[in-house]
Amino acid sequence: MNHTEILSWLREERAEALADLWRKADDARRDGVGDEVHLRGLIEVSNHCVRQCHYCGLRAGNRDLLRYRMSVEEILDCARAAVRFGYGTVVVQAGEDPGLTGPLVADLVRQIKDELPLAVTLSLGERSLEELATWCNAGADRYLLRFETSNPELFARIHPPRRGEATPVDRIGLLGQLRRLGYEVGSGIMIGIPGQTQADLARDLELFGKLDLDMIGVGPFIAHPATPLAVTQSTDRLTVDEQVPPTELMTYKAVALARLCCPRANIPSTTALATLNLAEGRELGLQRGANILMPNLTPPRYRTQYEIYPAKACIQETAEQCQGCMRRRIDSIGRRVGQGHGAAQSRM
Ligand code: 5AD
Ligand code: FES
Repeated sequence: MNHTEILSWLREERAEALADLWRKADDARRDGVGDEVHLRGLIEVSNHCVRQCHYCGLRAGNRDLLRYRMSVEEILDCARAAVRFGYGTVVVQAGEDPGLTGPLVADLVRQIKDELPLAVTLSLGERSLEELATWCNAGADRYLLRFETSNPELFARIHPPRRGEATPVDRIGLLGQLRRLGYEVGSGIMIGIPGQTQADLARDLELFGKLDLDMIGVGPFIAHPATPLAVTQSTDRLTVDEQVPPTELMTYKAVALARLCCPRANIPSTTALATLNLAEGRELGLQRGANILMPNLTPPRYRTQYEIYPAKACIQETAEQCQGCMRRRIDSIGRRVGQGHGAAQSRM
């Protein structure tokens, strides 16, 4: 799909035309990755963060947040639960936390891989090439790093560089390096960042195709009151017409178009989407291009403190309840739970 076609879908409002888009995306999903929905157990291992991203509630400047870091033994317990629940993958995610040192994470990955039949996905922010290589050698299978927006000025505005560094890390370059190290690579964006235009979003979707990603996460931007973006009006810089709205509908369009651009990628129906529509956001995501769900394995006492954005879906459920709930949702739309690691089809 070219830029103009993507843009016209993003601007489409007629119900019949949209029904056609959902159908095309669902067909592409079935042809590309089949009917299985893979479950990835999410472990939010630390909410410490040294960065100051303008969108994220974990930013260092948020003094109201109680910080935690799980021990290796606590994380291993969550990974063991993943196996009991029949998940093929754990996603180890955190803020950019120097307390999660290179050797500590390498040791954690080695222990999970030695003991359990799981694929391990890391999502630990912008780390050094040396650390990323060490973790890959320790057995980590995948790395997730969203580029958030392909517009470099917008990205620089919402994502200040690390203290002492003049320029932000080139995330798109880093994704190429991750691929060369041997990781399966995932990225993604937020929908409706204040200042994001429809043309920006169209370019994000085109970039998914060019980067040949294994995994693509897209979710709505949800303003967090303790962040600078909460007070930026979306119309500060743009006309209402140009600004991408951070809505459920726009997120479905992005999921569907991501599927059409990348037929074989793994695409989750995200928690941020479920936060906008708890009743059926996950299901509709799965029916409009997505093929992955990410049930939460984080112990509930920590989960409430992993507040990237407010009122996150499923914050109270135990890991056990979350897996039952996810299975029922998959069942209810006539799909089935995937077995095994659920690696990207393009790498098999
Ligand atoms: N709303 C929605 N998603 C957010 N993320 C960070 N902050 C927010 C927010 N306020 C997403 C980013 C990040 C991922 C872990 O969470 O895309 O990469
Ligand atoms: Fe998370 Fe139901 S979707 S508990």
